[in-house]
Amino acid sequence: MRIFSGIRPSGELHLGNYLGAIKQWVELQNNNECIFCIVDLHAITTPYDAQEMPQRVIDQAISYLALGLNPEKCILIVQSHLKEHLELAWLLGSITPIGELQRMTQFKEKKKKHKKYINAGLLNYPVLMAADILIYQSEIVPVGEDQKQHVELTQTIAKKFNNKFGETFKIPKVQMNKDGARIMSLSDPKSKMSKSDGGKGCIDLFEEPQIITKKIMSAVTDTQKKIKYDRAKKPGISNLLNIYSLLKDISVAEAEEELKGKSYSEFKKILADLTISFLEPLRSKRNELASREVYVQEILSQGAKRAKIMAQETMDDVKKKMGL
Ligand code: AMP
Ligand code: TRP
Repeated sequence: MRIFSGIRPSGELHLGNYLGAIKQWVELQNNNECIFCIVDLHAITTPYDAQEMPQRVIDQAISYLALGLNPEKCILIVQSHLKEHLELAWLLGSITPIGELQRMTQFKEKKKKHKKYINAGLLNYPVLMAADILIYQSEIVPVGEDQKQHVELTQTIAKKFNNKFGETFKIPKVQMNKDGARIMSLSDPKSKMSKSDGGKGCIDLFEEPQIITKKIMSAVTDTQKKIKYDRAKKPGISNLLNIYSLLKDISVAEAEEELKGKSYSEFKKILADLTISFLEPLRSKRNELASREVYVQEILSQGAKRAKIMAQETMDDVKKKMGL
């Protein structure tokens, strides 16, 4: 299967990014043709620092490698290295109803949050995402739950194009990690873990161990005592159980069994230690790669070369079908 996914270089990757998206990528690269992207063109639709961007892109590539993406098994690219994504986005924009874009949850949320930065790029964000996916004839898009709506819009756009201009695009499917699709904030377990939630509820993948412990120990939980999965009544503990089971690769039921009789604070301590020891090797890998930036740049430029061939093939077909 051809697989595509990406993450914006807009800050450190966090546990939600890993458990929701990257963990699946690492597994999928073994038996599929995968392209994983650093979507810098999406990152510029919200306020950002142009000076910092080049380093952020490199750091994210280093993180991808440290987390287990293997350039011999998958293609790693930077979105802005391939102008074909933008070219296709323009063409797809011409058949995307504006109402579909205005009803996207992420657009509505970002519009509220960045009141002074409501640009056309923010509205057109899902069209570029559709182009990222469709240009490689991708069949599967592994993402967290918050991106499901965008992949569904991608399907709508692909079908519309195929109907209007003739069979061209494969219709991609969204793939979510059953339990990891929505990792919640530690400080507010009713909202998702995100880079922008102020830090308390979000664990960066390369955070200092003491800080990880502090954040997990002060995670918001209910006032009962039983370690039991119940998203509605016990969102905090359920979220911690989810994280625990994903890090250990066991089911939530198995996790409940293992933790039976433990107090909340004992559980939190166990989870903090588990998280730290899980992240430790990734951290040393990242430190090692940080001194090899030229090697990382080379991986990205090789990735762009391989991806370009596929992207150009789709573009030739699309332009011909559209009479251009
Ligand atoms: P973002 O950080 O919003 O660019 O998201 C990058 C990828 O991580 C997307 O596939 C998201 O769906 C996924 N993701 C982000 N936050 C979470 C979360 N709290 N739980 C699960 N997946 C997430
Ligand atoms: N919009 C995604 C996010 O915010 C990132 C993204 C851009 C993406 N293009 C993509 C994800 C294509 C999957 C496929 O997380």
